[in-house]
Amino acid sequence: RFDWYKKMRAESPILYDENTKIWDIFLYEDIIQILKNPKVFSSERRNNNIPTSNSIIAMDPPRHKQMRTLVNKAFTPRTIQSWTPHIQANIEQLLKKINDKSEFDIVKTIAFPLPLTVIASIIGVPYSDMDKFREWTLSIVSGPKDNSKESIEENTKRMYQGFKDLSNYFSQIIEKKRSHPQDDILSVLIAVEEDSVKLSDKEIIGFSILLLIAGHETTTNLITNTMYCFLEDQSVFNQIKQNPDLIPKAIEETLRYRSPVHAIPRIVKEDIVIRGQTLRAGDEVALWIGSANRDKNQFDQADEFNLHRTPNSHLAFGSGIHFCLGAPLSRLEANLVLSELVKRFPTMQLKDKMNIEPLQSPLMYGLKSLQVITQ
Ligand code: HEM
Repeated sequence: RFDWYKKMRAESPILYDENTKIWDIFLYEDIIQILKNPKVFSSERRNNNIPTSNSIIAMDPPRHKQMRTLVNKAFTPRTIQSWTPHIQANIEQLLKKINDKSEFDIVKTIAFPLPLTVIASIIGVPYSDMDKFREWTLSIVSGPKDNSKESIEENTKRMYQGFKDLSNYFSQIIEKKRSHPQDDILSVLIAVEEDSVKLSDKEIIGFSILLLIAGHETTTNLITNTMYCFLEDQSVFNQIKQNPDLIPKAIEETLRYRSPVHAIPRIVKEDIVIRGQTLRAGDEVALWIGSANRDKNQFDQADEFNLHRTPNSHLAFGSGIHFCLGAPLSRLEANLVLSELVKRFPTMQLKDKMNIEPLQSPLMYGLKSLQVITQ
């Protein structure tokens, strides 16, 4: 897909796709301007089957600002840093299962389960509910099941059912926490009394489910993609082993070079002309951040993975008012887990370099599995 982006940036940086009825936008410069202009490019989407369409990511100002101020309190750098021991304990638990196996799948054993467990405890899901919780979440975040004949309609139905189950579950949890508040995000949101910012139960549910979805597969892909960047080129892995302090820089470069999310949607509010093309109110746009992050007008040697790239102003977490709320959390999780993997398995190698299977989704970017051998 990177070749396609390159062609589009050179030949048709803004193009109306007749099939999807969406404007595709490919240049860094255009995308950043659009992200910084929420007045003309709206995030509001409504779908009664999707509770997250009530949530912060689908809100415009002024409601967005109120909500963001509120939830920012639960996501300050200090709070996030304070989750370190908890995340580390989760990593330890998961790595125990690998023990001294000489071969394992990074996705299945750690990159996939870790973010879900972490976000569930931050939201305040009791440990005893974790299994059913995981099952509902999976029915939302997983696409059509491999090796099954599940049709798109069946998959959508399963997704809506997952949303419904999770919504019912959160309704009960909210009731419990109202009478017995605890030290978690849901309790903080429920406790807000001020009328102008107070959240309805529907909004609290939407936000909880958003955190689950926005924070799960994205972080899985970040962990997997970074490990892939290490193992694909042994000289990168050697540098990391010699100097593990480079891991945060490697994570930033992976965010740019193999961005976990490739496109951000917006809806045009007022007619506007970009590069001679007229976009009309009501039109939808797809901002291809996966392309912007390879734009040579922004990044030298954009198609090369450079551990020392400075500055690295990638758009992997978006930009402007909707800049990813969970960015510090996913950076922390990735840093902790990658540091541990590098330390424990210094002889790690890809099992089969020629057999790396990417995810099928056009919007997300990651791998179905990453099989490694450790000796
Ligand atoms: C927003 C990417 C992890 C929660 C965003 C946006 C992007 C993004 C591109 C902007 C969407 C837009 O402008 O419409 C990522 C990536 C992640 C990641 C690449 C991991 C590598 C997380 C985590 C959480 C999270 C761990 C939660 C714990 C959110 C929320 C928003 C958001 C709540 C909406 C913020 C707002 O509307 O003000 N994310 N995300 N994300 N992300 Fe993330």
